Amino acid sequence: MESLDQRLVSSWFHGHSSVPPTYVQPLESRPGCRFMSPSCMSIPVIDLGDRHNDRADTIKHILKASEQYGFFQVINHRVSKDLVEETLNVFKEFRAMPPKEKVNECSKDPIGRCKMYTSSENYEKDAIKYWKDSLTHPCPPSGEYMQYWPDKPTKYREVVGKYTQEMRKLGHEILELLSEGLGLDPSYFHGKLSKNPQVLQHHYPPCPEPSLTLGIAKHRDTSIITILLQEQDVQGLQVLKDGEWLRVDPIPNAFVVNIGLLLQVISNGRLVGAEHRVVTNSTMARTSVAYFIYPSLKTIIEPAQCLLNNGTTLPMYKSMPFGEFRTSFLAKFPKFEEELRFKWKNVNDAR
Ligand code: OGA
Ligand code: NI
Repeated sequence: MESLDQRLVSSWFHGHSSVPPTYVQPLESRPGCRFMSPSCMSIPVIDLGDRHNDRADTIKHILKASEQYGFFQVINHRVSKDLVEETLNVFKEFRAMPPKEKVNECSKDPIGRCKMYTSSENYEKDAIKYWKDSLTHPCPPSGEYMQYWPDKPTKYREVVGKYTQEMRKLGHEILELLSEGLGLDPSYFHGKLSKNPQVLQHHYPPCPEPSLTLGIAKHRDTSIITILLQEQDVQGLQVLKDGEWLRVDPIPNAFVVNIGLLLQVISNGRLVGAEHRVVTNSTMARTSVAYFIYPSLKTIIEPAQCLLNNGTTLPMYKSMPFGEFRTSFLAKFPKFEEELRFKWKNVNDAR
């Protein structure tokens, strides 16, 4: 059987002028050629440094974006431009390392929390494969696990360590705004709900037939929120809004933020964990770095009690520890969300 380093798309795609049949998506999932939307349709941009607007205005904007799109970009976020550049460079250097070395650098943790994979985490089960290689590991603020992170490129731990600390701060800032907008305590997400952050880097090599393949299938994130750094000048991410795929074009010095399924549940369906996917292109490799805010496994995920107005509003979702949520989500995808919903009659009509 092929080893992982041989399976990585980045190891073999060079010699191909067409995609192997195992990478050809069924017709209904293909990007097609009519997915481009008018340029006036794009996800909202939230200016976090806008001193002319007061906080209440920022909260209003961010809440509206999270209700209507589940996606927005943030600018003037105070994360240093140099650090962002260094982070992308470290991951690009990683992407250029020999395949065996990449796999070795991600195989230090005996229980596999730091790992590389190709296609999706479920390679064996993917009937049709996805055009990407990924690297993931936990990045708790305590610095635990760092000994299992790659230590090549040489600056990996230093740079990714700093970057994930900054993401934690930015994540809290965004969650404070959302909490206030929803009517929750501003520190609602600061404890166990954001205890287990995870970093996930994707490498999408150029693909000879982008109209037949996908980099990531349509999905929702199982996070509270996700903060994504994408390379400038390379498009790939798309969001489903009212049945249309919208491109999320990179804008300078911005992060893409999306609402995860957990926040959809906690907000009792008010905020949308929007579906999104990644398409490939034929000329440029694309690197993206996602920072997922995840709870500890035992944390109960359910609609926030104070949003149920002392029992006068019915919960739309069942309660479940995060660990079980993750396992069921993976096992039952894409039906899980439906099962999680209560089927009340005539109330809280589902979106
Ligand atoms: C994800 C994801 C988007 C991207 O990792 O869940 O949606 O642009 N990534 O890589
Ligand atoms: Ni995602």
